Amino acid sequence: MNKQFDSLPSADGLWTCLRDMAGIDTAIVVAQGVIRWIGERAALPADFAGLPVHDGGHALVTAGLVDCHTHLVYGGHRANEFAMRLAGATYEEVAKAGGGIVSSVRATREASEDELFASASVRLRSLLAEGVCAIEIKSGYGLSLEHERKQLRVARRLGEAHGVTVRTTFLGAHALPPEYAGRSSDYIDLVCNEMLPALAQEGLVDAVDVFCERIAFSLEETERVFKAAQALGIPVKLHAEQLSDMGGAALAARYGALSCDHIEHLSQEGIDAMRKSGTVAVLLPGAYYTLRDTKLPPIEALRAAGVPMAVSTDHNPGTSPALSLLLMANMACTLFRLTVPEAIDGITRHAARALGLQDTHGELAVGRPANFVLWNLRDAAELAYWFGQRPVRAVVRQGCIAEG
Ligand code: NIG
Ligand code: FE
Repeated sequence: MNKQFDSLPSADGLWTCLRDMAGIDTAIVVAQGVIRWIGERAALPADFAGLPVHDGGHALVTAGLVDCHTHLVYGGHRANEFAMRLAGATYEEVAKAGGGIVSSVRATREASEDELFASASVRLRSLLAEGVCAIEIKSGYGLSLEHERKQLRVARRLGEAHGVTVRTTFLGAHALPPEYAGRSSDYIDLVCNEMLPALAQEGLVDAVDVFCERIAFSLEETERVFKAAQALGIPVKLHAEQLSDMGGAALAARYGALSCDHIEHLSQEGIDAMRKSGTVAVLLPGAYYTLRDTKLPPIEALRAAGVPMAVSTDHNPGTSPALSLLLMANMACTLFRLTVPEAIDGITRHAARALGLQDTHGELAVGRPANFVLWNLRDAAELAYWFGQRPVRAVVRQGCIAEG
């Protein structure tokens, strides 16, 4: 399917001259695509000494990055709405005027699977070039069984072709399709009784998401979707409290949600519920920035409660045409006041947890698939400091050397 990935060199062997986040000289042993040993170079057991050596040249090494919230597969773009908003229209006004999500639905329905694959591949390559090793891709621009299936099939194909871990999320409840105007409840029936069971049966759904908002779906409709997901044993997550406090986070927490995302208007009650359920708070500074939002997510209260915070691109054609996860880490610091270590955790281990991948991704550890990045940087703080630079020296993704 993608010759380039099929022919990538194996990363098996001994990776030397690396520095970890604490600046310690580190070696990593990879065998059959799995990390077999990692530690201070001076402590490398003698039996690994004869392995083929990959000289890391004093590169800083981190776990592969994880982008835990994207809408990467869609037709067209919405640069015209960017112009409308600059002229004063709000996101909600654009949506009510027939633009917004529904305009991407039109373009996505018109596109073939191959066209969607080609346009999403270009975008995916930008993220991969920055060291992304796992990515979530949502549906939500098809809004019918046929077109949601098409989006999710493209997401799966992207993972296979590019050799990257893809988690698919069914977001059928993203917006009301035009043919269901005024019949929101009937559309939620379709999502719960037909679309979700069929797509799950085809192995296309790793998680289920809803856009719970006054311009999208109500708390009651959200719960119906969560119940349908729960009945199929599929984990849930939620676009919660982006434009208003709907109480969505507390509801999602009751269903053991993997994550609640956006959360600018999250209440203390929502935070407490997320802490109890171990739900990750996914921060999306690209959408905050693009919408010129002024309501900051409650970072201090999330930190005080010990809720893990992830950071993601939220790549989508409407509110976050962002293709740099490192820029999002920078913006999480400058706009949301995360510390640099919090931002780095946000694009690695906490992002992995938001996808249920905490045992395989987001941290460097023995027994995990080899997913790590060698950076042309001296200091870990530089990861969130530069923007617009591509400081990647090499990426080991799924046990293969992907760039360098
Ligand atoms: O995450 N909030 C809802 N969904 C997307 C926006 C999608 C769009 O405008 O196309 C988001 O910001
Ligand atoms: Fe989103």
